[in-house]
This record gives sequence, C-alpha cells and structure tokens, in this order.
Amino acid sequence: MKSAIILLIVIIQLTHSASEPDAKSLLSVIADLTLSEDGKLNFTQLVTKYGHIAEQYEVTTEDGYLLKLFHIPGKRSSVLLTHGLAADADPYVIRGHGSLGIALADKEYDVWLLNNRGTKFSRRHTELNPDKDKKFWDFSFHEMGYYDLAATIDFVLDQTGEEKILAIGHSQGASQFFALTSLRPEYNEKVKLFLALAPGAYFFNMPTLFQIIATAGPILLELGKTLGIEELCKDRGALLTLIKTICTKGIISYEVCVKGAIFPFMGHNPAGFELSFLRTLFGHTPSGFSRKCLEHYDQLYFSEKFSQFDYGVKGNLVKYGRSYPPDYALSKITTDVAVMAGKLDTLSLVHNAKVLKKKLPNVVHFEVIEATTHTDFILSGEASKYLFPSIFRLLQKYD
Ligand SMILES: *[C@@H]1O[C@H](CO)[C@@H](O)[C@H](O)[C@H]1NC(C)=O
Repeated sequence: MKSAIILLIVIIQLTHSASEPDAKSLLSVIADLTLSEDGKLNFTQLVTKYGHIAEQYEVTTEDGYLLKLFHIPGKRSSVLLTHGLAADADPYVIRGHGSLGIALADKEYDVWLLNNRGTKFSRRHTELNPDKDKKFWDFSFHEMGYYDLAATIDFVLDQTGEEKILAIGHSQGASQFFALTSLRPEYNEKVKLFLALAPGAYFFNMPTLFQIIATAGPILLELGKTLGIEELCKDRGALLTLIKTICTKGIISYEVCVKGAIFPFMGHNPAGFELSFLRTLFGHTPSGFSRKCLEHYDQLYFSEKFSQFDYGVKGNLVKYGRSYPPDYALSKITTDVAVMAGKLDTLSLVHNAKVLKKKLPNVVHFEVIEATTHTDFILSGEASKYLFPSIFRLLQKYD
C-alpha cells in the first residue's frame, strides 16, 4: 500500500516535470531506438502500410476544442470508433490486420476514429492554450461525450449524408457515449447500434488492488491539484519518455510494465500480449488526459453510481441546483446497445456489465468474451480470431 502510493507520487512528480522541455530530448532518442517499425510509424503511415488510406479532419466542438478525426474510407456503413482512457485512435490500428480499425476497413466499412480532447492528436482549442490555461483541462468523460462525441457524430453524418451511423466504444469510450445519449437524447436517433466493449459505468465489488488505489485516489488527486498538475501523460513529456524507455527493453520490461503494471490492473492474459508487442505499443501509448478524468471515475467508485461530476455541495448547487450530482438517466438511451464484457477483465467486471445491462432499456446483445482482459479488446494479438467474428456478425445485422 505504502509503496504503491510512493510510486504514484513519483509518477505525479515526473508528470509535473513534463513541462520542462530540456530533460526530454536525449531520453527521447534513447527510447525511440528500441521501438519496432510499427512503433515508430504514425497513424497515417500504419494505415497506409496495411493497405488503406487515412484521411484527417478537424472537428470543432461547441466549447471550442479542436479534435483530430481520422477516416479510413470504405463503401459500407460508417463505423465510429471511440477509444479508452490514456489511449487515442492509435491502438485501433497498431496490430495491423489484427486490429479492429484496420480489420473493419478490410471488411470495407467506412471507418472513423475519434481522438478525444487532451490526447496527443486533440490538444488544441480556439482560445485556450493547453500549456498555460488550466481551464483547457477542465473535463472528464462527461465533456468528451456531451461535446466531443456529439460534434463528431454530426460531422460524420454531414460528410457521409447518412442518417445514422454504427458506433463502437471501448471503456471510457462507452462512458462518454452513455453520458451523451442520456443527456442529449436526440443523439439516440443518429446511431443505429452502439457496441460497448468493456464499458466503464459501475464499479461495485472491485478487486483489492483497485480498491487500494481508488481509496488513495482523493489524496493523490488533491496533491496533484495542489501541485498544479492538470495534464497527465503529456506527449513527449518526461513521464512518457521514461515509460517508453523502461517498457521497450525486452524481458525485463515485460516483467515490470506488463506483469507488474498492466496485468494487475487490466487482467492477466499473456496469450494476447507477446514480448515483441511492447516495442510497438509504447511507441503509441499512453496518450494524454486530464486529472479530472481520474477524479470522475474515482467518484463513481465511491458513489457506486453512474453520475455526473461531484463539485461538492456548493459547486453542485450552482451547477445542478441540488447538493449532489444527478445520475445519468440511462433509461433515456433508446439506441440499440450491445455489450461485450471480458471474463478476465479486472477493471470493467462482468458483474458490473450486468448491472449496466439491467439499467439500459434497449440491450439487443450481451456477451461475455472468454479469456479477455480489459486491454485485450483492443490490443490482443488474438482478438481477430475470437472477438472480431462476433463483432462483425453484430454489425452486419445493422449494415
Ligand atoms: C504522419 O507523418 C506524415 C509524414 O510526416 C504526415 O504527413 C502525417 O500527417 C502524419 N500523420 C499524423 C496522424 O500525424
């Protein structure tokens, strides 16, 4: 417990020093040396390498964020992919034909990939400067749903002339979808089917390790706030460079980064996560996000509710006209929803996915995927064999 807290404080400190530019360059060079070819190629280059074209668009949200939206054109229905926390669109293509973004393109779907505010691709705003204005980082999955996803869905519909799209969200990508469609029910009319992979909504009966970290959460987050840390995992920042350096060094890296960090939190499954993949993965992740993202999830853990951000009694009265935050009204989500939960997932637990299923009025498909952890949905080298066929069957019904 103590060492975990110390480790987190060290991480927070390192993240903080990420704003100092000089420390990074040499480390960056060293880190890059150990990456695989696909670890070094960017999104566009990866998509090209695996036989498709990647276009880039800029979407402006109602509150002024400038988001990079990727498009892999195809002649079937449009599918919008929304990523999880600390990710961006990259992980959807880094397994080549074995990654969901490319596999959908191989099946001729018209694939769109959102990059949420705060990620390395969407760290821009019409007025706010992410390096200077704290206000830029004042968001959680709530704003990513209410603004980012809303603007992106409208943009895709406008570009394609379609009336409805298909959408897939992993983890936080599902949280933001539920936030949007419960608060702005008109968006239910714009989506034919939403597929939630390892959705993040309820956090009952969590594993001990998660409980320890979540319980220490308020203190750590308060510390972060005091130190003025709003942005986490800044691209090319000191923390990220350190992670890249440590995590791309072969067997030792596998012990430290995979067995020591990823498996305990996301679920244990070496089958989908081979040693050589580290040199690709850490060329692309983690991607930036705000401290408030973690704070909102920590609140959900304590409240055991899927509710809006808790600003404290005073703040809540101003914001919501009541002393506690309102729950997201899942009963208003009329879109067809499919839910897939991983049996080995230690973050989005199967029993919590079942709670979600009961609260959503329109679940058309619920599936527990065997031998799948939280990250396996997106990162497993085996997902194309045991997971994608199920996804394709489902999408085909709505195509
Ligand atoms: C990837 O790199 C190429 C070449 O530098 C550039 O044209 C392209 O815009 C980059 N793509 C992204 C997503 O940054």
